[in-house]
Amino acid sequence: MREVGIGIAGFGIVGGGVLSILRSHADDIEARLGARIAVRRVAVRDAGKERAVGLDPALLTTRVEDLLEDPEIAVVVELMGGVDSAFDLVRGALERGKHVVTANKALLAARGEDIFRLARQQGVDVYYEAAVCGGVPIIRTLREALASDRINSLHGIVNGTTNFILTAMDEQGARFEDALREAQRLGYAEADPTLDVSGGDAAQKLCVLAQLAFGARLKPEDVLTEGITALSPEDFRWGREFGYALKLLAIARRTGPAEGAAAGAPDQIEARVHPAFIPAGSLLAGVRGAMNAVVLRSEALGPSMLYGQGAGAMPTGSAVVSDIIDLTRNILAGSPGRVPLPPDRPLVELRPHEEVRCAYYLRFSVKDAPGVLARTASKLAEHRISIAAVQQREQNDQGQPVPLVIVTHQAREADLRGAIDEIDRYPTTLAPTRLIRIESV
Ligand code: NAP
Ligand code: HSE
Repeated sequence: MREVGIGIAGFGIVGGGVLSILRSHADDIEARLGARIAVRRVAVRDAGKERAVGLDPALLTTRVEDLLEDPEIAVVVELMGGVDSAFDLVRGALERGKHVVTANKALLAARGEDIFRLARQQGVDVYYEAAVCGGVPIIRTLREALASDRINSLHGIVNGTTNFILTAMDEQGARFEDALREAQRLGYAEADPTLDVSGGDAAQKLCVLAQLAFGARLKPEDVLTEGITALSPEDFRWGREFGYALKLLAIARRTGPAEGAAAGAPDQIEARVHPAFIPAGSLLAGVRGAMNAVVLRSEALGPSMLYGQGAGAMPTGSAVVSDIIDLTRNILAGSPGRVPLPPDRPLVELRPHEEVRCAYYLRFSVKDAPGVLARTASKLAEHRISIAAVQQREQNDQGQPVPLVIVTHQAREADLRGAIDEIDRYPTTLAPTRLIRIESV
């Protein structure tokens, strides 16, 4: 039986899942691969820490250099998280001609370009299925199954923690803090959960997906990003009334070349992560808890959807182990580079966020006084925004703000922002207006 040696850096949630799957599925993996995967070293920060999965202590090391210096290690599996140390390790591995598997979207979003360039130079593979949507094979689908097609849009629930929190708030009336604590306990959240709730983790994943789907080259700071911390139970209630579910979506959409661009100009794409109201009966609305899903629209296939567990030890571990198996097949066949890395120049450009067009839910907090509704409506009209629906609650407490909810037809983001800026300065507007975009997925 042939053997391929691997070294794993990181023995936390995902590392534990990987080691557990490699052990419990060892016979199946050997049968499918015709070779044995041998874990030669496992690097951690603290060798004395208690681990969820048993491991021969002789394999543990606190020096990631041990992975790089072992000539028997052909594949380095980076499961540490973070950017700087992870990049040093990945660079060290690639420079030594070792292949890399990583689950680290932060690393790919920040340093993907450098990593892919070096891998191309060295003729080695970098696999990263677990970096987006945990166990759901979205990377493989974009890279291989849809290699023939042209993607026009991508709408994803790509962060398990925020979907878990939003589901708990919606269905059980849970408090945000309690739901986040539970997501952390279940191993879904990042080490710093601010990344999850701010939309930052989803923006990193969108950069990775947009590169594969559209040939975009984006940094997380290029993505219009809003998190879920400002959402209130009131927004869920209003959403239900209008027939919507509330989800944190990652969206990338091809919009064609910029208006007035010369012939042959590249297409533009929108890239955004934000809470969105979607029809309550849509497939994405049924994605609950920590589950992830991505809806793709492509020219030949039409609409398609991938769905599954986007976080946690075993789902994520399964994607990492599948990458190790695929990579090992390339090594055994002597064909690294069989699946090309993302292109080294962008094929599309980013559409300015002010030009995004969608429908909006606007919740104004206003004084119950004559002319307030009329003035709000005419300010929207002045900015070319057409109203699709209006709701106002009767308020019994004199002087208390009254919620006035307006749903608009499709409008330009810049026009909408301009109108809200002016409306929020009226003395009859008692709190900043809440804006939630509406998507028809
Ligand atoms: P984690 O539980 O915090 O584990 C990190 C592991 O890396 C720990 O074992 C830690 O050692 C080790 N480590 C950190 N810095 C190190 C260093 N400089 N040298 C050696 N070892 C080091 O993290 P995780 O949740 O498994 O996530 C790992 C990666 O997978 C991240 O990139 C994350 O974004 C990604 N990911 C996670 C999930 C998920 O559901 N959790 C899903 C998809 C992708 P100690 O144990 O000794 O502290
Ligand atoms: N914190 C991430 C999430 C882990 O909740 O989706 C998976 O990438």
